[in-house]
Amino acid sequence: VSLRPYNTFAIDATARYFAAFHSREQLETLLLDPQYATLPRIILGGGSNILLTKDFDGIVLKNEIKGITSVREDDDFVYVKAGAGENWHQFVQDCIAKGLGGLENLSLIPGNVGASPMQNIGAYGVEIKDTFEQLEAFHLHDREIRLFDKDACAFGYRESVFKHQFKDQFAILNVTYRLSQKPVFNTSYGAIEQELERMGAKELSIRSISQAVINIRSSKLPNPAEIGNAGSFFKNPEVTAETHASLKLAFPNIVAYPLANGHFKLAAGWLIEQAGWKGYRDGDAGVHERQALVLVNYGRAEGEQIVELSWKIVESVKEKFGVVLEREVNII
Ligand code: FAD
Ligand code: EPU
Repeated sequence: VSLRPYNTFAIDATARYFAAFHSREQLETLLLDPQYATLPRIILGGGSNILLTKDFDGIVLKNEIKGITSVREDDDFVYVKAGAGENWHQFVQDCIAKGLGGLENLSLIPGNVGASPMQNIGAYGVEIKDTFEQLEAFHLHDREIRLFDKDACAFGYRESVFKHQFKDQFAILNVTYRLSQKPVFNTSYGAIEQELERMGAKELSIRSISQAVINIRSSKLPNPAEIGNAGSFFKNPEVTAETHASLKLAFPNIVAYPLANGHFKLAAGWLIEQAGWKGYRDGDAGVHERQALVLVNYGRAEGEQIVELSWKIVESVKEKFGVVLEREVNII
């Protein structure tokens, strides 16, 4: 089975078997099927944060569990549970339509609800950990459902327990978010204020913030329907205040944000651009011309070519700035 339609990088790798499941019961049946039981497996969502580097000799299980329900409500919050196979942006729009706040800054992030806790998706000053309540996950070997609260997920910047200790062990079935009936607006990310002004938005609302985020994202991030990509390829690196100070002396225009722990986060896109990579292209593998943090597939690039390009970028950024970039995309 070609996986090309199932990954936004549009890499043409194959899987020995491919199946979709719409419920925990269907997943369990697939896991117990003697034909697949001993094979390696991957749980797939929207395929927008993976890079396939070779054919997969196992079974790809695409999570299509649907359903959005309000499970509980108190004076301030509504707790909304969404199936892992729901499209993330649709879910966010659905919450906005119901007047529920908290996810509007995360509009237009590709992929599905089930992957949102994997790397604690974030954008424009918000991360899902800010509104996350709990999730249900199915253990692929014990075949038992486990409940994870926020602490159990160990969320960090683009991190969770599911990328480390529990890597490839669980299928996330659904996620519950604690959404606000009295929204608190987050416009801390400078670009949002500017865009709201440009839009001539009369009043601040979860709807206008969502639209501002959609406009900003559309102006600089490549649309996977047109150019293969998986969003930011690397994380923004964290450095100590000393390292930041000496970099700032050598490179006065460096883009950095102070963190609560006294460290600084550097804009990896700036580092990559300054190292001369923005708009670079070798065959069909390239660095996006408007966002240097995004690696792209212009057509028929292989996963290995993208990985090779990423190593060259890591080397050159390390040489110029002494900073080692860490990958954000999941390599398969
Ligand atoms: P997939 O790519 O299908 O899977 C990602 C990983 O999670 C894989 O390892 C997979 O095995 C695992 N997985 C998926 N679903 C499940 C499940 N139900 N149970 C267990 N494991 C599972 N991310 C951000 O954080 N912020 C952004 O602003 C952002 N912008 C992006 C912009 C573009 C143009 C693109 C292409 C990507 C962007 N991303 C961003 C990355 C991506 O959208 C997110 O990581 C998203 O959550 C991935 O969802 P998915 O369903 O496509 O996951
Ligand atoms: N910049 C450059 N050149 C570039 C790109 C960026 O100089 O080619 C500088 C700009 O000065 C800009 C700064 O870097 O002000 C930050 O850029 P941007 O606002 O585009 O955000 P980012 O830091 O590159 C991060 C996330 C994105 C998220 C945006 C908005 C990571 C790894 N990436 O990107 O997430 O959408 O902030 O919050 O943290 C993703 O994870 O896939 C993703 C797209």
